[in-house]
Amino acid sequence: MSKETQSIRLDFNNMMAGHVGEGRGITRTELEDVRGQARKCFRDLMEERSGGLCEFLNLPYDRGAVARVSEVADDVKGRRIEDFVVLGIGGSALGNIALHMALNDPIYNELPEIRMGRPRVHVIDTVDPDIFDGLLTLVDPEKTVFNVISKSGTTVETAAQFLIVRDFLRRKLGSDYGRNLIATTGPAGGALRRIADEDGYTTLDIPEGIGGRFSVLTPVGLLSAAVSGIDVEAILSGAAAMDKRCKSDDIKQNPALMNAVLQYLSYNKGMHISVMMPYSSRLEGVAEWYCQLWAESLGKKLSVDGKVVNCGPTPVRALGPTDQHSQLQLYMEGPFDKVVTFIAVGIFTSSINIPNDIPDKSLAYLSGRSLAGLMEAERLGTQAALTEGGRPNCTIYLPEISAFYIGQLLYFFELQTALAGKLFAVNPFDQPGVEAGKVNANALLGKKGLEDRRKELEQSVRRYQEGETGEEYII
Ligand code: PA5
Repeated sequence: MSKETQSIRLDFNNMMAGHVGEGRGITRTELEDVRGQARKCFRDLMEERSGGLCEFLNLPYDRGAVARVSEVADDVKGRRIEDFVVLGIGGSALGNIALHMALNDPIYNELPEIRMGRPRVHVIDTVDPDIFDGLLTLVDPEKTVFNVISKSGTTVETAAQFLIVRDFLRRKLGSDYGRNLIATTGPAGGALRRIADEDGYTTLDIPEGIGGRFSVLTPVGLLSAAVSGIDVEAILSGAAAMDKRCKSDDIKQNPALMNAVLQYLSYNKGMHISVMMPYSSRLEGVAEWYCQLWAESLGKKLSVDGKVVNCGPTPVRALGPTDQHSQLQLYMEGPFDKVVTFIAVGIFTSSINIPNDIPDKSLAYLSGRSLAGLMEAERLGTQAALTEGGRPNCTIYLPEISAFYIGQLLYFFELQTALAGKLFAVNPFDQPGVEAGKVNANALLGKKGLEDRRKELEQSVRRYQEGETGEEYII
């Protein structure tokens, strides 16, 4: 089979009642019963897509964005830049981390021979002063490009990072400092867009209808990938292949729809925790990206028709085999409230074998074994143990970790999340809870227009500090 026709696969045998028992497992009848609802959810989403909504679904075909990203990346390469720093948070950072971890060599940043003239990549998604101070100590302003990413252009953490970096560059490089800044922002990207235009930075656009956590396939995620030599065309080809694979409205023909249904049915059986456990350290960033996508999209107070539902599965990131020695105990014997999704990799890039020369008989069974084989045995062992314990689990198989399959995987999760939003009857594209936190932080920092909110917050902080709330719960 040619690479272009291969696909990631979803094995959900162990989600079914026949494998993990009635009650926690899904029955064939339940799958049949939900088929019509799933069909409608899929058709509704596709109707929105044809109506110009859900633009993230069309990103695999946006070759204009690839051309622009490649042009900017080539410019960075041509300038012999040593460090490329992404400044952003949430959906403006996690896709970068996922792509960099999955598709660059794990020692990419450490070894110049591997980078072949390309810069190190850093993604700073915090305003922790210790991290920021370390970064500014590490990099040479002359040879560093900062890519500030913010769809809204107003997010406080990114604004703070940007202002510090702008000042740092201006002090070191003078009035020409803007050549070392690239702004990736929405067309109406607030203060960031205005400053970028005034000061003449290179800018990249985040298309209007695409929210942060669905933006990995836009210049948000693609620029740092292209700068580090990742084949961004192949990522989009993979995403397009997954789009084609998920064209049917029948759960049996559409893996993203099927997985959305499986997660939804399991949630309704009390499995409120959704564990994402890749058996590859390179996929840890993808698991983290998925957790944000799943949590921020599905964790909602209100349903689409305004009812209070307070629903949403809680995603948890785990890593095999590392977490077999920590979280797994809970998954095996704790409450029956989890679904585990393993990600298995067919062929690892490197091959290392345990030597044949074993100095102790008790370890002889390891002689000559490959580390990839060991990973596989551990995954299969964990899968079997969970299944025997009546714990639902499924496995996503990736033939290998390449740009093409990562493109498939990311698109699969995005589509699955949008479809799960339909099944849960919530809007997966808003984030009122996140906005509430943003507003409060801005109010406390004295942002204009939020004076009343600031007064309310200060009053409640004062009441709290002065013990007016009654009992004291701090020791
Ligand atoms: O997914 C989302 O919408 C959020 O996580 C945002 O990406 C995050 O809050 C950053 O927003 P912005 O890109 O506007 O700075």
